[in-house]
Amino acid sequence: MTVETEQIVRSAEERSSDTEHDEGPSLIELDHIHKTYVMGDVNVHALRGVSLKVSPGEFVAIMGASGSGKSTMMNLIGCLDRPSKGRYVLDGVDVSSLSKDARADIRNRKVGFVFQGFNLLSRTSALENVELPMLYANVSSEDRHRIAREALHAVGLAGREANHPNQLSGGQQQRVAIARSLVNNPVLILADEPTGNLDSRTAVEVMDIFQRLNQESGITIVLVTHEHDIAEYAKRVVIFKDGKISKDYPVSVRRNAAEELKNLPVLVDDEDDEE
Ligand SMILES: Nc1ncnc2c1ncn2[C@@H]1O[C@H](COP(=O)(O)OP(=O)(O)OP(=O)(O)O)[C@@H](O)[C@H]1O
Ligand SMILES: [Mg+2]
Repeated sequence: MTVETEQIVRSAEERSSDTEHDEGPSLIELDHIHKTYVMGDVNVHALRGVSLKVSPGEFVAIMGASGSGKSTMMNLIGCLDRPSKGRYVLDGVDVSSLSKDARADIRNRKVGFVFQGFNLLSRTSALENVELPMLYANVSSEDRHRIAREALHAVGLAGREANHPNQLSGGQQQRVAIARSLVNNPVLILADEPTGNLDSRTAVEVMDIFQRLNQESGITIVLVTHEHDIAEYAKRVVIFKDGKISKDYPVSVRRNAAEELKNLPVLVDDEDDEE
């Protein structure tokens, strides 16, 4: 797929200002979204009329019981799937009616993904894992190396470029995945239970990176979590129940991961190297 370099290098702020809306710019606008999975003769009605607006610069935690539709909604927001009914506008573009290729193009330019299981290629170095999304965006190999190194540096992994995932701790692997999500300069990061497989200190370190990306780079973050204390690092909480939004409220006392890390005992991050 062809993406012009000019589009890649435009900053998150510039691109999010493309949005045209009467009532302030929404980055994400879901309007009465339904999603029904058809499995043989059984229909699973995973989303039952979800409407949600997220403005640029927000940090939203999505919570709710297993099966309530959180990942289904993340897949739609990330243009990995399309709604059965309803309208979805991402950064001013109505993506609900776009073709698969057009959705992939928007996804590659605007969205970074971070998953619970890291989803790294195991036989490939950290640097190459981070370079991967740029292969699809026609970035020169020189630029790929440079941008990937910068992204690894930004998440605190300078010097780990050559390590394979099994030579990194869980937290380091998740940081590689975050670096990978950053290289196409996304306006939006979608993270589905990114701390689900991490111990508590490492989870705070990962939340520190998300808070910095949100505060310092203005990247909008939508993050699914089962843990209330993780949700408190966000600015807003949206709760799903049975395929619908049941609650939507601002976080009143927000946690600050950077501050907390100063007071947490430092574990030796490199312990895993000896394994
Ligand atoms: N690809 C699929 N095909 C069929 N049914 C699906 C598919 N993906 C999800 N579902 C169903 O849709 C409903 C919502 O699933 P979803 O994965 O969105 O839940 P979730 O809130 O992310 O749950 P969890 O917290 O366990 O990750 C569930 O009943 C699930 O079984
Ligand atoms: Mg899920």
